Amino acid sequence: MTSDTTNVSLDNLVSLCKRRGFIFQTADIYGGMNGFYDFSHLGVLLKENLRQAWKDSLYNEQGEIVFMEGAVVGPEAMWIASGHVQNFHDPMVDCMACKHRFRADHIDLAKGCPHCGKSAWTEVRTFNMMFKTEVGAAQAHASVGYLRPETAQSIFVNFKNIYSTARVKIPFGVAQIGKAFRNEITPRQFLFRMREFEQMEMEWFCAPQDSVQAFEFWCKKRLAFYDAIGIDMSKIRMRAHEKDELSHYSQQTNDVEYLFPFGWRELEGIAHRGNYDLSQHSKHSGKDLSVFDEATQTSYVPEVVECSVGSDRLLLTVLFDNYREDVVENEPRTYFAFKPHIAPIKAAFLPLVKKLEEPARALFNEVKKSIPQIQFDVPGSIGKRYRRQDEIGTPYCFTYDFDSETNGTVTVRNRDTTAQERIALDQVVHYLHDKLKK
Ligand code: GAP
Repeated sequence: MTSDTTNVSLDNLVSLCKRRGFIFQTADIYGGMNGFYDFSHLGVLLKENLRQAWKDSLYNEQGEIVFMEGAVVGPEAMWIASGHVQNFHDPMVDCMACKHRFRADHIDLAKGCPHCGKSAWTEVRTFNMMFKTEVGAAQAHASVGYLRPETAQSIFVNFKNIYSTARVKIPFGVAQIGKAFRNEITPRQFLFRMREFEQMEMEWFCAPQDSVQAFEFWCKKRLAFYDAIGIDMSKIRMRAHEKDELSHYSQQTNDVEYLFPFGWRELEGIAHRGNYDLSQHSKHSGKDLSVFDEATQTSYVPEVVECSVGSDRLLLTVLFDNYREDVVENEPRTYFAFKPHIAPIKAAFLPLVKKLEEPARALFNEVKKSIPQIQFDVPGSIGKRYRRQDEIGTPYCFTYDFDSETNGTVTVRNRDTTAQERIALDQVVHYLHDKLKK
């Protein structure tokens, strides 16, 4: 077994994801689009399991969590108030010899162009990463909008709406899963840096005097999430931002980092945003976004602790972290060791031979009533079918054979150990439900 998954090649992972139907490059029949990806059946199921695990992980005893879904386009005034029009920049530089463009902070300019080796740089310019668009058909009346570069702002501008309708008390959290867009100068490393991606963000609104404790609380809780979804915790670390790294809105930020094959990189950001966002939106919109504290009979603007992770970057992490290679019956095998509740397909049902398809399918249909994420797989030798299921990370394969007809049992094969046991047909549903418990 590969014990060190930091050596997994990105190319192998990308081709497995394509070959087995997890992820495709957007419009690949037209040559693809840099920084954009489409998710196919297995990718969709895997992502949905991660979203669900993330939602579950937010519940806590300190306050309510409520959900929202905002529009992806927001008016210019909102992005001026948030500081994104003025501050959401990356430094960009072009090589005048080969015309390649780079993030100036990602390369050593003194060493020359990483593509052609020449030292013919343009000035370093700042580049705003927001996608700008015109809203409205008649050009004269069109207004400027931006695709959101983070989902968080939809939460801040809705703070008062939610606070006054959701029957919540401070502290509470508003969580959102949705698309974000950044015109990254150099999208790279597959799902790591994309131009269209999904974020899972939770903004925790609390009283100013409780914000430091809340920041620590959420840092701990977020680490527990990665453990619960089965990430190798020796590849997770928490790193505090230096003062000069902090985003324009942040008082303190801790990144949860994962050891990718290309090094330690940010997976999630946990930020103490103070009351920056609510104060800015209050100032620019003219609306009062403070709350009234009955106990002290005073008003205050809540402070915010934010937990923000990209769904796609998390999916990439889970793919890398669970990628395994070993040798079974003298043949090399590749598999994903996903935890059962994260695996896109929970079990496969395989008739040993075509002749047994009907009773095997009856068992499959019975299980499907309560566990829909299962597959029925008929063509190919049993060994080939096991390998196919291993490659997509299916934790259990149930094989219906001739003994099943006579003694009412099936074999169940464990993906990780490849060990097999026989269980009664009427125990299969219970067996699987038990294994799917978190
Ligand atoms: N609201 C705070 C915020 O957006 P961020 O650190 O810029 O903070 C949060 O982004 C998370 O979103 C990152 O930790 C990462 O998981 C994900 N993310 C950011 N940019 C991304 C990109 N270009 N492609 C994929 N995921 C990205």
